[in-house]
Amino acid sequence: MKKIYLDYAATSPVDSLVLKTMSPYGSQFYGNPNSLHSWGQKAREAVEKSRQIIAKYLNCLSEEIIFTSCATEANNLALKGVVKAWKEKNLKLSPHIIVSPIEHHCVLDTAKRLAKEGVEVSWLKVDKTGLVDPKQVEKLIKKNTILVSVMDGNNEVGTIEPIKEIGKIIKNKKGKGIYPLFHTDAVQAIQYLSLDTKKLKVDLLSASAHKFYGPKGIGFLYLKKGTPIVKEIEGGSQENNLRAGTENVSFIVGMAKALDLVRKNKDKEVKRLEFLRDYFIKKILKNIPQTQLTGHPKARLPHIASFVFLGAEGEAILLYLNDKGIGVSSGSACTSGSLKPSHVLLAMRIKPEIAHGSIRFSFGKKTTRFDLDYVLKVLPGIIKKIRKMAPKLKIGK
Ligand SMILES: Cc1ncc(COP(=O)(O)O)c(C=O)c1O
Repeated sequence: MKKIYLDYAATSPVDSLVLKTMSPYGSQFYGNPNSLHSWGQKAREAVEKSRQIIAKYLNCLSEEIIFTSCATEANNLALKGVVKAWKEKNLKLSPHIIVSPIEHHCVLDTAKRLAKEGVEVSWLKVDKTGLVDPKQVEKLIKKNTILVSVMDGNNEVGTIEPIKEIGKIIKNKKGKGIYPLFHTDAVQAIQYLSLDTKKLKVDLLSASAHKFYGPKGIGFLYLKKGTPIVKEIEGGSQENNLRAGTENVSFIVGMAKALDLVRKNKDKEVKRLEFLRDYFIKKILKNIPQTQLTGHPKARLPHIASFVFLGAEGEAILLYLNDKGIGVSSGSACTSGSLKPSHVLLAMRIKPEIAHGSIRFSFGKKTTRFDLDYVLKVLPGIIKKIRKMAPKLKIGK
C-alpha cells in the first residue's frame, strides 16, 4: 500500500546526512566534553562548533545557546527559571506573567503550575484565526510583569503570531531595564521563518531538533546574555551553569547539521510548501462541503493545513486515513476515555462540537503534489461515510 506521511508538525525523519554527521560521535569521538584530555577536547570542539552554527542562524552569540533535552525542557526552563530568578531577588513584589492561550501544553501547563504557586498569570485572547493582538499585550503589561510568552507559529492551526510587533512593544516598555522579558516558542517556526533574535527583540526562544530533520531528544533555549534565570536541573556546571548533565554530543552535532541543511534550502522549500499548502486548502474547501479552514488564511506556516469537518469526528477521520496509508493528526487529545476538544480551537471560539472534527495535515521535505492528490481522492468518501454514521449534530452558525 502507498504510504503518505503528513504529520511533519509532530515529528520528521532524521536526514541521512545528519545521521552520517552524528555517527562518529557515538563510538569514535566518545569523550566527555567536560574532560580535559584529548578525547574530551575533541567532543568539546564539536559541541562548541554546533553552538556556533545555531547561534549564526539566530544572529546571536554562541554563549546564548543552552542545549536541553527537548523544547519541553527549554520551555519549562524559560518560564520557571525566569520566575525563580525574580523571586530570589524581589521578595516583596510578586511576579506577573502574560501567556497566550494557544501555546503548546509544555508552556500552557507550566504557566498553570506557576499560577498554582502564586504567580499572577494573565491569559491573552486570540481572534477567530488564532492571532494575538499586540495592543492587548501592551495593555496587560504592568509594573510587576516579568515575562510575556507568545509562540512564533502555532502547531495545530499554523497561525503565525506578530512576534516582531510584540517584541517592539515589550522593548519600549522595558526602557533601559530588563523586564518584561519576551519568550517565544519557535518549535514550528524555526525552519521556515526568519528568526533573527535581534530583529524580533526576543530574550528567550525555544526549539527542538526533531521537527527539522534532526534527532529526537535534543533541543535548545536561546537566552539573551544578562537575562536573569535560575536553572531547573541541578548538578554539574554544564551549559553556562544553566543545565546540569553531560552534553549529548552526537545529538547536538546532529541538531546543528540539521539546522544548517535547513538554512541552505530554506527559501526554496518555503515556496514549495506554500504552493502545496495553498493548492491543498483550495481543493479541500472546494471538494468537501461543510468544511472550514482553521487558523489564519494568510499568516500561516508553510507546512500546516488544518480543517474542521463538520459532523465528522477527527479521530475517526484519522483512523480511516490511516487505513489508506495516510498519517495525519487530529486536534483532540484522548484523555481518560473522554475526547477533549483542542484548547487552541476553543480559544479561537470554535464550538466544542465542531472542534471535534479537526484534522491537521502537515507537510515536509518528501511531500509531493501526487501525495496530496491521493489524499484529495480518498478523503471526500471517508468524510461522507463518517457523516452518514454519525448522529446528526446541531451545528449553529
Ligand atoms: C509548538 C511546540 N512547542 C513545543 C513542543 C514540544 O517539543 P518536544 O516534544 O520536542 O519537547 C512541540 C511539539 O509538538 C510544539 O509543536
